Amino acid sequence: MNIVDRIQELKGEKDISILAHNYQPPAVQDIADFLGDSLDLCYRAQELEETTILFAGVRFMAESALILNPEKTVLLPDMDAYCPMASMLTPDILDEKKRKHPDAAVVLYGNTTARAKARADVICTSANAAHIVNSLDEDVVLFGPDKNLRYWTQKQTDKTLIPVPDHGYCYVHNSLIRPEDILYLRDRYPRAEVLVHPECVPQVQEVADHVLSTNGMLAHARRTSADEFIIGTEKELCYRLRKELPNKRFYEIETAVCRDMKRVTLQKICHAMEHEESKISLPHDVLESAREPLERMLSLGRG
Ligand code: 13P
Ligand code: SF4
Repeated sequence: MNIVDRIQELKGEKDISILAHNYQPPAVQDIADFLGDSLDLCYRAQELEETTILFAGVRFMAESALILNPEKTVLLPDMDAYCPMASMLTPDILDEKKRKHPDAAVVLYGNTTARAKARADVICTSANAAHIVNSLDEDVVLFGPDKNLRYWTQKQTDKTLIPVPDHGYCYVHNSLIRPEDILYLRDRYPRAEVLVHPECVPQVQEVADHVLSTNGMLAHARRTSADEFIIGTEKELCYRLRKELPNKRFYEIETAVCRDMKRVTLQKICHAMEHEESKISLPHDVLESAREPLERMLSLGRG
């Protein structure tokens, strides 16, 4: 039996549903039960009936699935699949900043560790950051870890957003998607709309037509009459875009690759399902404290 058939068989045998992020390798996207951005994946994790979730993505995403569903088993096929940006905001850095700004609300990006989430008032993603910030009573907000998402969100609010840490970033969007890469593609494909992720640097955001989350790019490409797009985010989103919108054209930045997202393979998925290995676990107090800020985000929605 080939590996894809075995994975499909194991889903039924072991009551497992596979959730995958839009940056997963094509072969993994193809076997997923649900593919999405980080916000959609949180909603979907809450709706599943299966007793086990296999999360094809990076660790903070699988942790969020467990925090929202503590009664379920959550498997991460490669326990070393981390988001480096999530590690940039340590509990110590956050506690120090909270001491300096005791009246500020704390809004953290989903790309954070569970321990950091446990210290937040509310979580946000790239799909709803401005909506979440604007829904708060406080006028001063500690916001992190991504400095570029903070820049994008600050443009959409009158509140004061204080970065925490001072310079958190995603190496893929911050360093591997440069203004000159976008301008080069724009010269080559002058009819194409430019869609970029808010984790990109301000200079990239400024040359874009739209700044959107990964699912936001898919939704926009689906509804607009434009039929060519330059995609400023991790390149694998283009696999999904081409598959779902075969009559439109998508131009990726070839170098924009998230190494951690690519740690997940069909072999590792099959192994984790067979042996029910790589179970995510969190200390009870962290699991409990991180739930409220995540649920608060989900109840506020996309805006
Ligand atoms: P999305 O929530 O837009 O999918 O982004 C998650 C992420 O990790 C971006 O690098
Ligand atoms: Fe983290 Fe960047 Fe990879 Fe997204 S693309 S998971 S922010 S390192």
